[in-house]
Amino acid sequence: MNVVILAAGMGKRMQSSLPKVLHPVAGKPLVMHVIDTALSLLASSDNSAAARLCVIYGHGGDLVTERIQQTYPDAKVQFALQQPQLGTGHAVMQALPYLDDSVPTLVLYGDVPLTSRTSLQALQAASSADALAILTMNLPDPSGLGRIVRENGQITRIVEHKDATPAELAIQEINTGIMLAPTKHLKRWLSALKNDNAQGEYYLTDIVGMAVADGIPVVAAQPRAAWEILGVNSKLQLAELERIYQRNRANALLEQGVSLLDPARIDIRGNLRCGRDVSIDVNCVFEGEVELGDGVTIGANCVIKNSRIAAGTSVHPFCHFENAEVGSKAIVGPYARLRPGAVLAEQVHIGNFVEVKNVTMGVGSKANHLAYLGDGSVGARVNIGAGTIFCNYDGVNKFRTVIEDDAFIGSDSQLVAPVTVGAGATVGAGTTLTRNAPAGKLTISRAQQITIENWQRPVKKPK
Ligand code: UD1
Ligand code: MG
Repeated sequence: MNVVILAAGMGKRMQSSLPKVLHPVAGKPLVMHVIDTALSLLASSDNSAAARLCVIYGHGGDLVTERIQQTYPDAKVQFALQQPQLGTGHAVMQALPYLDDSVPTLVLYGDVPLTSRTSLQALQAASSADALAILTMNLPDPSGLGRIVRENGQITRIVEHKDATPAELAIQEINTGIMLAPTKHLKRWLSALKNDNAQGEYYLTDIVGMAVADGIPVVAAQPRAAWEILGVNSKLQLAELERIYQRNRANALLEQGVSLLDPARIDIRGNLRCGRDVSIDVNCVFEGEVELGDGVTIGANCVIKNSRIAAGTSVHPFCHFENAEVGSKAIVGPYARLRPGAVLAEQVHIGNFVEVKNVTMGVGSKANHLAYLGDGSVGARVNIGAGTIFCNYDGVNKFRTVIEDDAFIGSDSQLVAPVTVGAGATVGAGTTLTRNAPAGKLTISRAQQITIENWQRPVKKPK
């Protein structure tokens, strides 16, 4: 199959300098939702070797092609510039050099992100080698859209809203814009398009009348849901589609047995994989690839990106994770920040206002209050007191802190890296550690405490 994605429209109503098709739904540009669906459709069809995908771009030019090439370096995505934009038929014409005559051509819109593969497969199933297949839908309010004109039940043509007679405006079956056409015929029809209509555009939809005149069967299929064919022309429509998308994701999680305290208050921007009996409180955002093991609970207002959390772990409210790994039965938060390279073993406890970056922590270790642990490794059963800082950075270079098993770091200590605290060592509260602390001993750098006898508090001078 050839796939042509129309993405040259200008999107004036977005009121933005970013090209319309690069605006995100669920963190992913609109056009990439369409490309992903097309790629998954191509991968599932028998003749995927003949698959070609062509994006028609115009407004926003290079940015659109750059972003797509970055995201799909391996996929064979072709680009055709449409300049100026003279209508949907003119747009598809730009793809003609890339289309393989021996397979049909599917036309998709780059600003209609939520069409499902299932609905496109229904379109495929409705068509045959030589038929023109159109995805249509009955809408209570069809205004603005192209109407499907039928005679004796057979589709005869599509009429655009602006060209329609009052009788045609009453038709509720609309053209979604998505169609599957026999490529050889499509090429011929496109070359015969005229722009003698209300908008002075080359309408792709005029090929329907041409097919009928040629005796080529025109068939229709319907999408499963109305939101699948919604396009984005404004920030309002973008926001509406985002909510529909998120609600669908939430429903899928609920069906799979995940507890969501409010399915209207979760955002998934990527893939979220959950084990059994996972519970997620309100206002959480999941980005990239996130995995939650069996029985994991996530408190309210957490942002979790590209992280894995193993079975039985509790994440309390207001945590922020990025590229982190948390072992089973751990307790994290509230207000904890796990940055890239934070790797926590089983039963680790990370408490409030603790930041962990590029540090592995062994089984059962704890840092429960106010700490910065950056660049190092912490063994098992280590206790890190409140206010501890790994001084990892001298302004130019970064160094590692190593804390071996069973060590105890007293509160408000600074470990000036590179430095090692041996197994079972104790570092006294308030220590600034600049040399290694030997295993099994108490190391302390605090000045001796003194008490000054007969000291007098200053008193206010009389005026
Ligand atoms: C089109 C259909 C209409 C259908 C509606 C569904 C035609 C003539 N009409 O109308 O029957 O009901 O979609 O939403 O096809 N585009 C280009 N280059 C252009 C013009 C458009 O790439 O020169 C792209 C747009 O970026 C957009 C898509 O094609 O992704 C549809 O364009 P739009 O202007 O929204 O089409 P409509 O006139 O609304
Ligand atoms: Mg238009």
